[in-house]
Amino acid sequence: MIKKIKVSAPGKIILSGEHAVVYGYPEILSAIDRRIFIETEETGLGLDVQPVEGKLIVEQAIEIFKAKLGVSRLKNLKIKISSQIPIGSGMGSSAAFAVAISAAFFEFLKLPKNLKKINEIAYEIEKKQHGTPSGGDNTISTYGGFLLYRKETENIKTFLSLKTKVFSSIFLINSGKPKENTGEMIKSVRDFLSRSPQKVEKFFREIEQVTRNFLRFFSGEELDFGSLITRNERLLEQLGVVSPKTKILIQKIEKEGGFAKISGAGGTKENSGIVLAYHRDPNVLLKLAKVEQWDMFKVKLGERGVKSE
Ligand code: MEV
Repeated sequence: MIKKIKVSAPGKIILSGEHAVVYGYPEILSAIDRRIFIETEETGLGLDVQPVEGKLIVEQAIEIFKAKLGVSRLKNLKIKISSQIPIGSGMGSSAAFAVAISAAFFEFLKLPKNLKKINEIAYEIEKKQHGTPSGGDNTISTYGGFLLYRKETENIKTFLSLKTKVFSSIFLINSGKPKENTGEMIKSVRDFLSRSPQKVEKFFREIEQVTRNFLRFFSGEELDFGSLITRNERLLEQLGVVSPKTKILIQKIEKEGGFAKISGAGGTKENSGIVLAYHRDPNVLLKLAKVEQWDMFKVKLGERGVKSE
């Protein structure tokens, strides 16, 4: 009997706390309405992955799955990957892939659906890609919604689902794929931390303060959402993860009364990936994006985590 299954997992944005989260500070993430889809079918013809560029990472995922769960039936598979999430641009494409492939194998093998395990395996797959990720990206892609996330230790990670206001006008601007990958950006912050521990720890603590203020905003306190975005961006700039070109883009938004920050690992050499942008009057942003010819699109936040299609 030919089994065919399809699952999807969302990409993400980070409202506050990227990089600091790698060192145990909290972060707030949201799942977005851009997803990766994985179709899995039994073939009898070995492993066929489409597009073929995905083969290596699927093979790695199979190895991790076998090692973690001791299953050996992942051999004759046709796997089709399609995605709405730009690769390597801070929108959590690799984590969404890791979660989706992990969930696809669970379903394919008729294992009871277990989000905790799906997430744990996805984290192992992520580590193969990025060295020392926090696990936040795979956790938001697994559970969806808005999460307050914290990596306490390698084995203990805590998260809380946040009930929040509706964000009607959050835009993402693709500033372009960074030359550096997430692992390299994590390393550049680690190097900065070992050169100037006091300075960088102070940035982390200030980022944590911004994250807490976002939480207070979520629970209805009169805090200026836009100013929190700007404060977060400045701290990321001081951490050295935003390129000069992206800073100019962000300044243009600020000059028009808007607010913007990078979201995710960033990039310093040329591009910094996705930029989250907000304006009380969305038309101002729409006009600016048109003039500047930015690749800008609206996103829905708080979307569902991994699911069967
Ligand atoms: C990447 O989306 C976010 C970082 O904080 C890395 C991580 O959390 O693993 C830069």
